[in-house]
Amino acid sequence: MRSAKVLVATVAVALTGCAVTVSTSESGPAGPSPRLGQPVSEAQLAKWNIDVRTPDGLGLPPGKGSVADGKKVYDAKCLACHGEGAKGGPVFGAMVGGIGSFKTNTRVLTPGSMYPYAGVLFDYVRRAMPMNAPQSLTDDESYAVSAYILHLNGLMPANGVGDAKTFTALVMPNRDGFISDTRPDVKAERCMSNCPPISSTRGKK
Ligand code: HEC
Repeated sequence: MRSAKVLVATVAVALTGCAVTVSTSESGPAGPSPRLGQPVSEAQLAKWNIDVRTPDGLGLPPGKGSVADGKKVYDAKCLACHGEGAKGGPVFGAMVGGIGSFKTNTRVLTPGSMYPYAGVLFDYVRRAMPMNAPQSLTDDESYAVSAYILHLNGLMPANGVGDAKTFTALVMPNRDGFISDTRPDVKAERCMSNCPPISSTRGKK
C-alpha cells in the first residue's frame, strides 16, 4: 500500500523539522501573552501546512531552481556544516553516494541512497534546513539546492532544473526499498464527523 510507505518515510522528516511559534504580538503587563484560545485563520495555518505528499508530489509548490543556482545556495548556506560537495562536514556526514548500499549489510544513508522520492528531499530542506535558520529558504532556493544535492548523487544532470514536475518524475534508486507496515492499528483513516470512539475502533481493522 503506497500511503503507508510514504508515511514511514515522512514521519521522521516531519518530526525533525517540527517547531511551533507562539505569537507574541499582544503584550500585557506581565510580558507577552501566548494568546491562548484565539481562533487560527486559514492564512496562519497555511504557513505550517507545507508537507509534500509523495509519491504523486502533491504539495510541491510552484517555483523552480537549477542545479547551478543550487550550488550557490549550498556554498553560501549549507557548506559550513555539510562540507564541500556535500561530502561531509564538521556537523554532518556525507549526503552523497551510498546508492545501492541499502541492498547490502553496510548501508550508507544519504538522500541519494535512501530517500524514495525527490519530494522528500525538498520537503526536508524546506522545513528544516539550514539547521540554524529553518524555513528561511525561498521555494526556489529549496528547489535549487535539492536539485544540486540530487546532481551530486548522479540523479540530475548538471543543467537540470528542480520543480514540481521534474521532482515528481524522477525515479529515485531506493523507491521500492520500503515495506508497508501492515499492522492494523497503523492505518490512519481520517474521520471528520460522527467518529466512533477510539476504543471501539482500536484493533478491529
Ligand atoms: C548549522 C549546521 C547546518 C547547516 C548550516 C545546514 N545543515 Fe543540513 N543538517 C544539519 C544536521 C545537524 C543534520 C542532521 C539532522 C538530524 O538528523 O536531525 C542535517 C541534515 C540534513 C539533511 C538530511 C540528510 C540525510 O542524510 O537524510 C539534508 C538533506 C540537509 N541537512 C540539507 C541541508 C541544506 C540543503 C542546507 C543549506 C540550505 C543545510 N542542510 C544546512 C546541519 C546543518
